[in-house]
Amino acid sequence: MIQKYKYGIPFETDAVPQSIPCAQGTPSCGTVTADESGFRFTYRMSNNEAVYGLGEALRGINKRGGSYVSFNTDQLFHMEDVLSLYASHNFLLLAGECPTGLFFDYPGGLEFDIGFTQQDMLTVSCKHADLYLYIITGSSLTDVVKQFRHAIGRSYIAPKWAMGYAQSRWGYAVPQDFREVVDHYRKHHIPLDAVYMDIDYMERFKDFTVNQETFPDFPAFVSEMQERGIHLVPIIDAAVKAEAGYPVCDEGLENDFFCTDEQGKPFEAAVWPGLTYLPDFLKPEVRQWFGEKYHILIDQGIEGFWNDMNEPAIFYTMQGMEEFRKEMQDFLSRPAEEVDWFRVRSLSSGLCGNSNYQQFYHNLNGERICHEQLHNLYGYNMTRAAGEAFEQLCPDKRLLLFSRSSYIGSHRFGGIWTGDNASWWPHLLLNIQMMPSLNMCGYLFSGADIGGFGADVSRDLLLRWLAFGIFTPLMRNHSAKDTRRQECFRFEHPEDFAHVIGVRYRLLPYLYSEYIKAALNDEMYFRPLAFDYPEDAAAREVEDQLMLGDGLMIAPVYLQNASGRCVYLPEDMLFVKFLPDGTLHQEPLSKGLHRISAALNEVPLFIKKNHILPLAAFAETVAALDETHLELIGWITEPTSYTLYQDDGLTKDYSNPQHYLTLTKEPAKP
Ligand code: NOJ
Repeated sequence: MIQKYKYGIPFETDAVPQSIPCAQGTPSCGTVTADESGFRFTYRMSNNEAVYGLGEALRGINKRGGSYVSFNTDQLFHMEDVLSLYASHNFLLLAGECPTGLFFDYPGGLEFDIGFTQQDMLTVSCKHADLYLYIITGSSLTDVVKQFRHAIGRSYIAPKWAMGYAQSRWGYAVPQDFREVVDHYRKHHIPLDAVYMDIDYMERFKDFTVNQETFPDFPAFVSEMQERGIHLVPIIDAAVKAEAGYPVCDEGLENDFFCTDEQGKPFEAAVWPGLTYLPDFLKPEVRQWFGEKYHILIDQGIEGFWNDMNEPAIFYTMQGMEEFRKEMQDFLSRPAEEVDWFRVRSLSSGLCGNSNYQQFYHNLNGERICHEQLHNLYGYNMTRAAGEAFEQLCPDKRLLLFSRSSYIGSHRFGGIWTGDNASWWPHLLLNIQMMPSLNMCGYLFSGADIGGFGADVSRDLLLRWLAFGIFTPLMRNHSAKDTRRQECFRFEHPEDFAHVIGVRYRLLPYLYSEYIKAALNDEMYFRPLAFDYPEDAAAREVEDQLMLGDGLMIAPVYLQNASGRCVYLPEDMLFVKFLPDGTLHQEPLSKGLHRISAALNEVPLFIKKNHILPLAAFAETVAALDETHLELIGWITEPTSYTLYQDDGLTKDYSNPQHYLTLTKEPAKP
C-alpha cells in the first residue's frame, strides 16, 4: 500500500507518474514537523533494524550509522566521509518488523541522518517544507520495492549490444586512437562491443559537433567501426559553449532557452568549452529543442550516448571569478609571509562550490525559481530531454542512454554510471554495494567505471574488478587522462582478460533475460541477501555478496593479494568456477560458511540448488553470440525449468510471448 502526504506547495517533479490521491492526517510511520523553519521527519529505529536505499550513495548496503545529503555534486573524491555524489535518490527502505519504504519527493538539498547523531534515530530534513512524502508498506522488502518501482514507472531498457564489454578513456582524440584500441582487442581475442568517445571528439567541446579536422568523414568512420562490430558512443555535456555563430548557442539565446542570472540575462558559467550557458531543461520546450539535437549524431550512424557534467558541473562563474580575482590582487600586493595560504587554497577550490547554484534561475510558466531549489532535477531533465526525443526520432528502436547526474524519474529515460571513482580496492567493494541500492531506485542499466577512473590501476585490481563487472548491465572500463593506461591489452597475459570478459558473453543469455525481466516486472536484478533470506540472521548482515536474478549468487574477490575468500551460503548451492582453459569447476556446497579459492584469471559464482544457468559459447561480440546452443548447468535433483528471454535486442516488442522460452533440465540418472 502506498500513502502519499503533501506538505506545503511541492514542485511537481514527475518522479511518480502513477496517480495516487493524497492521504489526510499524520503519516502512518514516523513523525513529521513541517512549518516555516523547514521539514523534519523522525523515526525511531528498532535494534538491528537495517535501512536500505539511497541509490547512488557512499558506504555499505545497509545505510545505518551514516549521514548523507542529496545535493547532486561533481564529486571527484568518493571517500567515506563525502556526503553527496552525483545523484539524489531519496528512497529509504526500513527493514523493521513491517517493511516500509519512504520516498521524499523534494528537488532541493535533503539531509539524511540514519543513526549517525543518535544511534536509533532516523532524521530526514530540508529547508523548505514543500514536498511529497510517500510511505509504502508491504509484506516483504522485495514487495515494498516492487510497489515503489511500479509507482515510479518502468525502468529504461538498453539495447542488447550495450551489455557487451566497452572500452573508454578520456583522451581518445583521433581515429587512430580508436583503431588502435579495436586492433589490439581483436588481436588478443578480448571481446569488445563498444568504444566510448569522450569530449575530445568534439570541436572545442561544443555539443553536437564533431571535430572536422580530426574526423573529416565521421559517418564513414562510424561505419568502419560498425563493420568491425564496434558501436561508438559519444558523450554529450550539459552546458552549451557561449559562442556567436554556434547554432546551438544562437538558437538557445534567440528562444530564451538558457537559465538566467539575477538580472535576467543568460547565466554564464565555465566548463570544458570555457564560458557556457545552461539549458533550462525543466522547460518542456527546451527539452524538446535540445533532445532533437541528438539527431545530428544519430543521422551519422550513432546509436548511443552518455550525458555528462549535468549536476550541472560548474568550474567557476563570472561572479565567483570576479571575487576571486579581487582577493588574489590583495594577496599579491602583500609580502608572502602575510598571505593566508589556506584562504588562497579554499578560494580556488571554492570557485566550483555549491554557492554557484544560488546565482541562476529557471523561468517556469512566468515564475523565476532559483536553481538551488530545484538543483537535483537538472541532470534528470537533461536525460529526459534525450529520452523523450528518442521516442520521437526512433520510436521503434532502443538507443543507449545513460547519465552521470540523476533523480528518481530519470530511470525511465536512461541508465546511470556512478561517476569518477578511483583505481582503489575499496571502490570495487563500493561498486558491489551500490548496485542493489541503485536497483531499488529504478536504475537497472548501471555500472561503475571498471578499473577506476582516477589513479593508476594495477593488473590484479583490473582483473578482479572485471570479474565483478561482468555481472553489471553496463560493463565499461573507463579512466581519466594522465592516469596509467587501462585497456586490457596493455597488461601481461592479455589472454587472462579475454577469458574473464569472455565469461560475460557466456553468461549473457542469463544476464540479459534477468535484466529484461527485472525491468518489465519492476524487480531488482541485484539483491542483498537480506531480501531473499529475511529470516536468516547471518544472511541479513552480508554486505559483499549479491543475489543476481532468479538463481545466482555472486561473491566477488575484492581484496588485494587474496587468493580467495569466505562466502556465506544461505542455502545449498553449486559452486562454479570458470577456469582459464574454458572448462568449469563445479562443486556442490551445503548451506553455511565456506572458503573458496579463485585465482585472478578465474570467475567464481554460485547457482542455487535446483536452478538452471544457461551458458553460451565464448563470443567476441554480442552479435556473434550463438544463443541457439546453450549448455544448461546446475545442481539438479528434480526436474527444473528456467524462463529464458530472447529478442532481437533492439526493438521494443517486449511482451511478445515468442520471446519467452522454457528451458528444462532433468536430474542425472543415478
Ligand atoms: C567527467 C566524467 O565523469 C568523466 O567520465 C569524463 O571522462 C570527464 N568528465 C571528461 O569528459
